[in-house]
Amino acid sequence: MQNRFYLPPNFFIRRARAKDKWKIKELLLTWNDGVNILPMNIYWLGLIIVCLVFLFVHVLLFAALMGIYLVYEIQVKDYSNFWVIDNNGSAVGCAELRIQKRYSVIFNLCIKKKYRHQKLGSSMVEHLINEAKKPVYLSCDRELIPFYTRFGFVTTYAENLPRDLPIALGLTQGLSIVPMILV
Ligand SMILES: CC(C)(COP(=O)(O)OP(=O)(O)OC[C@H]1O[C@@H](n2cnc3c(N)ncnc32)[C@H](O)[C@@H]1OP(=O)(O)O)[C@@H](O)C(=O)NCCC(=O)NCCS
Repeated sequence: MQNRFYLPPNFFIRRARAKDKWKIKELLLTWNDGVNILPMNIYWLGLIIVCLVFLFVHVLLFAALMGIYLVYEIQVKDYSNFWVIDNNGSAVGCAELRIQKRYSVIFNLCIKKKYRHQKLGSSMVEHLINEAKKPVYLSCDRELIPFYTRFGFVTTYAENLPRDLPIALGLTQGLSIVPMILV
């Protein structure tokens, strides 16, 4: 058929190539009289979608981790080994004593800041020692060695501890804490 219409100079018709795909999609979105039916450039839209997905995945991940933590706290974590120091119905100090078959371990001794230096910590340690199956192990910062020495604890080496204890006492985490034993 004889052509009746001609393209302006510098325009020509060719077959679409694979790399034209995205341009075609973008064109089809401007269907309505050349007005982009989307209120923005498709690339911006893509970027916003990627950001939203990214955010959504992180929110989801955060919610999942919080969920796992809550289930752990409510259903799994056992506070039955804890002792507290009560003052007018509120706990102002706590400590955990895990009694095993052949030994005991003290963890999480903590006195509320306002109540420190009133021998509450010492009373708690003495109480736990009386409750414990000997030997008793714990780990502490070097600065607290004199505090525990008063009760008869001596420093020891991780190699001298029962098999799983170095991990439980946090000695494998590269922190500068020392294991102590009371025989
Ligand atoms: C360590 C802790 C339990 C002591 O409780 P407390 O009720 O103040 O202890 P007591 O009153 O029985 O004994 C106080 C003595 O312990 C020693 N002591 C307490 N904290 C100390 C610290 N951080 N560094 C060195 N010595 C310390 C001091 O000799 C102090 O004597 P002082 O009162 O004349 O200053 C308390 O400071 C605390 O909860 N700290 C934060 C948690 C912590 O580090 N726990 C130990 C886990 S191993």
